[in-house]
Amino acid sequence: MARRKRRRESPPPFEARIEGLSHEGRGIAHHNGKIVFVFGALPGERVLIQINQSNKKYAEASVLEVLEASPLRIEPRCAHFGVCGGCSLQHLSNDDQIAIKQQAVLEMLQHADIDIGEVMPPLRGDHWGYRRKARLGVKYVIKKERLLIGFRERNKPYLADMQSCPVLIERVGQHLQDLMELVGSLETYDKIAQIEVAADDQHCQLVFRHLVPLPDADIAALTDFAKDTGFWLQLQPGAADTVHNLYPQEQVLRFKPLADEDIAIRFKATDFTQVNASINQQMVKQALDFLELESEDRVLDLFCGLGNFTLPMARRVQQVTGVEGDEAMVQRARENALEHGIENTEYFAADLSKIDGREGWMKQSYDKILLDPPRSGALEIVQKIKPLKASIIVYVSCQPSSLVRDARELIAAGYRMTHFGLMDMFPQTAHVESMAVFRRGRK
Ligand SMILES: C[S@@+](CC[C@H](N)C(=O)[O-])C[C@H]1O[C@@H](n2cnc3c(N)ncnc32)[C@H](O)[C@@H]1O
Repeated sequence: MARRKRRRESPPPFEARIEGLSHEGRGIAHHNGKIVFVFGALPGERVLIQINQSNKKYAEASVLEVLEASPLRIEPRCAHFGVCGGCSLQHLSNDDQIAIKQQAVLEMLQHADIDIGEVMPPLRGDHWGYRRKARLGVKYVIKKERLLIGFRERNKPYLADMQSCPVLIERVGQHLQDLMELVGSLETYDKIAQIEVAADDQHCQLVFRHLVPLPDADIAALTDFAKDTGFWLQLQPGAADTVHNLYPQEQVLRFKPLADEDIAIRFKATDFTQVNASINQQMVKQALDFLELESEDRVLDLFCGLGNFTLPMARRVQQVTGVEGDEAMVQRARENALEHGIENTEYFAADLSKIDGREGWMKQSYDKILLDPPRSGALEIVQKIKPLKASIIVYVSCQPSSLVRDARELIAAGYRMTHFGLMDMFPQTAHVESMAVFRRGRK
């Protein structure tokens, strides 16, 4: 006999006092001996909450009503805050967001007994309209008889019903409706899966991923839209290597790693590039300053991507070796160096989580090392970093827990942390980007 699935009743709402804030910005409360992470609640607040998910260790909840508000609470700017999964801190001012993120990482480092050294002023930029790269979901929702374009709902697989997004660059964030009208007008309106957004200072590229071949009428409609609006349009019928220009014929995006230098790196919408142009430029400059680059230096740039740090460093030192996991990006990093007449860089494609020390570039020594790993961090490589003999290491982190773990390894390898600084790369969101500087030897 078929077993009938029992619908799990959601527990009744209850009142809670928020005791603290987690490092990704959720309120912390306790209920029946279990820790509860409460989206949208601030320390000191009394709130009515609803548990959304629960496991053995912790529960996740959202606020139904704020009964006693924190003085830090502000009105979120975006009408979709709380539903859309993109932002989680709009109920705090930008100053408070930065202060809370910084405090959280400092506490994590201190908790791990790491001597932090000097805490640098955070790098700051625009808090709105900063996001230049995004993948927007596209879905025709039969029940709503509407086409939606935007980010996913918080903790849900569905697309949020968004009118606009104040975090995306204005050209896209304030024109989601135009995109919905465009896609809604296509014969293949229900066969467009996503739109990838990538912009530089002058241009904004939209890459339409389509699941069936587009009829001529749709090609014409998309081309007319590009002509009328100035967006650059690309089509993607399959995997990333099928992306091609629709209109105009020539499309080259470039970003400048430093505001006042002539390096302008070519990139594709599908490449990794930093989403916040102003913070990126400040970050590259700060990293270069901390590395105290000298003309005789040999530098290792790990997780080098397209050469965001590599090329500016190469202009200042004898030699830079870049290592990156994505072969296609390594190839484009080489092309970017060539195009800029930079001849003192070399690049290797390697999975840095699987290094055994026998690689040619691992057998050399370096004066300075820059590390910019993904969220999972750089454990395997920092465990093998000692023989490379660098005097200064700059570690750019997009995940505090990985930074703390890797910092301990660097300290065990004979380094000390001299500086730490937050970078406000993703305002309004829970993402925490930071930079830590390590020097070899004790004080
Ligand atoms: C945070 S990005 C930094 C890229 C570059 N430094 C920049 O500023 O644009 C991390 C880079 O690490 C690369 N990556 C991720 N996992 C890797 C791995 N296991 N081995 C080597 N590279 C990896 C990604 O392709 C990406 O380019």
